[in-house]
Amino acid sequence: MKNTITIGIQWGDEGKGKIVDLLAPEADVVARFQGGPNAGHTLIIGNQKTVLHHIPSGILHHNTLCLIGNGTVLDAVELRDEIRLLEDSGVPVAERLRVSDRCQLILPYHRALDAAREVARGAGRIGTTGRGIGPCYEDKACRRGIRLCDLNSRNLDERLERNLKLVNFMLSEYLNAEPVSRDTVEEALALARQHVLPLAADVPMLLHQQRRAGASILYEGAQGTMLDIDHGTYPFVTSSNTVAGAALAGLGVGPNAVEEVIGVAKAYMTRVGAGPFPTELYNAEGMNHAAGKHLAEAGHEFGSTTGRPRRTGWFDAIVTRHAVRINGITSLAITKLDVLDGLEEVKLCTGYILNGRMLEYIPADAAAFAACEPVYETMPGWQQSTYGVTNADQLPQAARHFVQRIAELCEAPVSMISTGPDREHICHL
Ligand code: GDP
Ligand code: IMO
Ligand code: MG
Repeated sequence: MKNTITIGIQWGDEGKGKIVDLLAPEADVVARFQGGPNAGHTLIIGNQKTVLHHIPSGILHHNTLCLIGNGTVLDAVELRDEIRLLEDSGVPVAERLRVSDRCQLILPYHRALDAAREVARGAGRIGTTGRGIGPCYEDKACRRGIRLCDLNSRNLDERLERNLKLVNFMLSEYLNAEPVSRDTVEEALALARQHVLPLAADVPMLLHQQRRAGASILYEGAQGTMLDIDHGTYPFVTSSNTVAGAALAGLGVGPNAVEEVIGVAKAYMTRVGAGPFPTELYNAEGMNHAAGKHLAEAGHEFGSTTGRPRRTGWFDAIVTRHAVRINGITSLAITKLDVLDGLEEVKLCTGYILNGRMLEYIPADAAAFAACEPVYETMPGWQQSTYGVTNADQLPQAARHFVQRIAELCEAPVSMISTGPDREHICHL
């Protein structure tokens, strides 16, 4: 396999986990480069379901080294729980997983701040996953973060004391929330020492050695391009760069370490949390278009991390083409095609109307993007089931046309079509 980045090119939950798991047997290394336990990547193998938050989606395969890079933020409690679940089902995680010693640690005060800030934002809340992601990246940028390697540092006590003073001032004086105790933080640090520190490694060095030995590397993105802190629907985004370019800085490799970039996209759109979504049809707040309801129900659209219902809508080719361009996508993996089965007609958004003008790009301002009215191309749907189809020639003609039109509008070829949640439900093109 060529060295490949696999990333989401919508608002997350595109089915990245499934695609990475099915490509992993051809890779020697699978590496995560950004995000943290805000991610929820689902793998379905027969009747066994695994949901991964921190651990790369190659973990179920023998002979696959899994790496968590410096660009990620790490919650030791979450990681410990995830390791336990996998080990209980017989996966030797400790043998297969290494974590960068430069990872930033998510500590209890990050979660407390995340929650309190969301409450304070009121109607303007972002709808974060509540995992402390934003405050942890904030500390990193502010140079007061605690990294895995800092657990052995002599001035750790002093730094923690300073951080707690600041955080507790913000919590109690400004956000009207409970302060965090030093004991709670110490417990989290003790867990990190016990369960994560033994897995710590110099990840760029490991990657360098692997690459010299001719290994192929699969880089696994979390979230999606429209949640990228620079290129997404700011401020309704996550706190990291989720684009392909982040794989390099988030692991410590150069641009020549990558040959392919696979963009994973659902055959429709979903979003969890707040923020603009021009093709939205259905949400828990009362938008209730029949096709959107179909997508939510047939697609079981509930968040893998928080269980929140996902908002659903038609495929937006302006969003995905934007993502194709800024990520250098070399091919698309279109997932959940089966979810469209049975719809009389299917739609693709090919532009927006804003203030009476036609747009074929995404306005930078979130309010302007939210005000965009989608312009659709309507195509006939199909009544046959595509569930589990593994040969694209056996897909109904209307489904093949739909996928072909996505490729044309997004200016990228389709290399995979996913027709069900299982590892086996895939057509390679
Ligand atoms: P990720 O965050 O991108 O890895 O995606 P999630 O795991 O959060 O959400 C994708 C959901 O869709 C999971 O429940 C998958 O099991 C499921 N899924 C993935 N591909 C397909 C598909 O082609 N068809 C159907 N019906 N479900 C799929
Ligand atoms: P995977 O990897 C979908 C969304 C949250 C919220 C915004 C900010 O499974 O695709 P955060 O907790 O990151 O500060 O929340 O980003 N979000 C995701 N949505 N899939 C994800 O990950 C997400 N990770 C964060 O819902 O809108
Ligand atoms: Mg997910």
